[in-house]
Amino acid sequence: MKLWGGRFTKETDKLTDDFNSSISFDSRLYKYDITGSIAHAEMLGQCGIIPKSDADKIITALKEILADIEDGKIEFDVQCEDIHMNIEKILTDKIGTVGKKLHTARSRNDQVALDFKMYIKDELLNIKELLFKLEDCILKQAEKNIETVMPGFTHLQPAQPVTFAHHLMAYFEMFKRDMDRLSDCYKRTDVMPLGACALAGTTYDTDRRLVASILGFESITENSMDSVSDRDYAIEFLSSLSIIMMHLSRFCEEIILWCSNAFSFIELDDSFSTGSSIMPQKKNPDIAELIRGKTGRVYGNLVGLLTVMKGLPLSYNKDMQEDKEALFEGVDTVKACLISFTPMLETMKVKALNMQKSCSHGFLNATDAADYLVKKGIPFREAHEIIGRLVLYSIEKNKTLEELSLDEYQDISKTFAEDIYEFIDIKTCVESRKTYGGPSSVMVKEAIKRGWEYIKK
Ligand code: ARG
Repeated sequence: MKLWGGRFTKETDKLTDDFNSSISFDSRLYKYDITGSIAHAEMLGQCGIIPKSDADKIITALKEILADIEDGKIEFDVQCEDIHMNIEKILTDKIGTVGKKLHTARSRNDQVALDFKMYIKDELLNIKELLFKLEDCILKQAEKNIETVMPGFTHLQPAQPVTFAHHLMAYFEMFKRDMDRLSDCYKRTDVMPLGACALAGTTYDTDRRLVASILGFESITENSMDSVSDRDYAIEFLSSLSIIMMHLSRFCEEIILWCSNAFSFIELDDSFSTGSSIMPQKKNPDIAELIRGKTGRVYGNLVGLLTVMKGLPLSYNKDMQEDKEALFEGVDTVKACLISFTPMLETMKVKALNMQKSCSHGFLNATDAADYLVKKGIPFREAHEIIGRLVLYSIEKNKTLEELSLDEYQDISKTFAEDIYEFIDIKTCVESRKTYGGPSSVMVKEAIKRGWEYIKK
């Protein structure tokens, strides 16, 4: 007999049970469902909606059920559709009529919104914690590479020299924004919906603020219809997760390039690499590739949930049951990716010498050579033209700017003097970029210091 069976004369078809039920995936909400029910029962008792002694019985039984689930003693039933009705059924089987009072002044519509928000609040914090660990790892790698000069690219063409620390710190900033986004999402999730009931509140004199304070919510929702219809917080969370994946994917793409033979800037540890079943020489960055690949799932879940929600009339519709698998998969994917990415980054070997060698190709110091002429009084646009010709000449002669003789420089412009060599030295090029947020060691040290302050606060 279904908990809602009164107005039915027939059993549901087995196909209906299977298709309609969500217990196969929403069972992961059991802890939140029970905690929410305990708070609800407490409120019902305190407000005199049910006798205090009944509330106490319900609470004791719910705590026992929670322990039983955790001990693996309970099997859920698809006939009971979802986690909410499964738990209510277990409760009534356990304590009889008293258990049937729990659902007074409540609907599964506000109950599921409550459970989902509690779950999301926890996972927001869990993922933030994983991002903290990643940021910690980035700062440590950056500290070791403040002097590690490497080419900076635009269009994947050599542009200007930076340091590996500076490059890593760019990712620090991205993940910092990701953490801020999660904190922001937390604020909007931390609003308690229970008490909205099916959609229109209740005739009982409930105390929604009491439930919120028992469950540690900052505030309560303002409109009963919005309370049960809103999934913005889940969409916002999935969009934050998608942005995290986008950042991880870009980082992975670079790691894949850097450990390619052509770049050879880093080597991943054997413990985070894989081999080929046919080619004995291979060492592949599968972890990084998989993270890049899994980004698609998280984007897919975001777009999926946006699409589920886009045409729904107020208030609750069963379509919204589709929110769970989308979000769960997003959460699981991001956690799994972060859990593997951080130690992969931590254990990778930086090939500083190769990075430095790579700076001698690609005329990374051409802008500095132009700036040299500007400092000697030539307008920048003219200096740009002169160095452009110098680069063309060097390509023909198969030389770097450092390898040109002073005569060769002076054939192009008499303004060049012996001090050009010091000026275009790659190390000088990096160290002279003292712009706030730039790659010079003073600036990067400051950025790392700010980074530590951020993750320690
Ligand atoms: N399993 C449902 C969900 O995930 C719970 C709410 C069901 N409410 C209802 N009136 N059918 O959305």
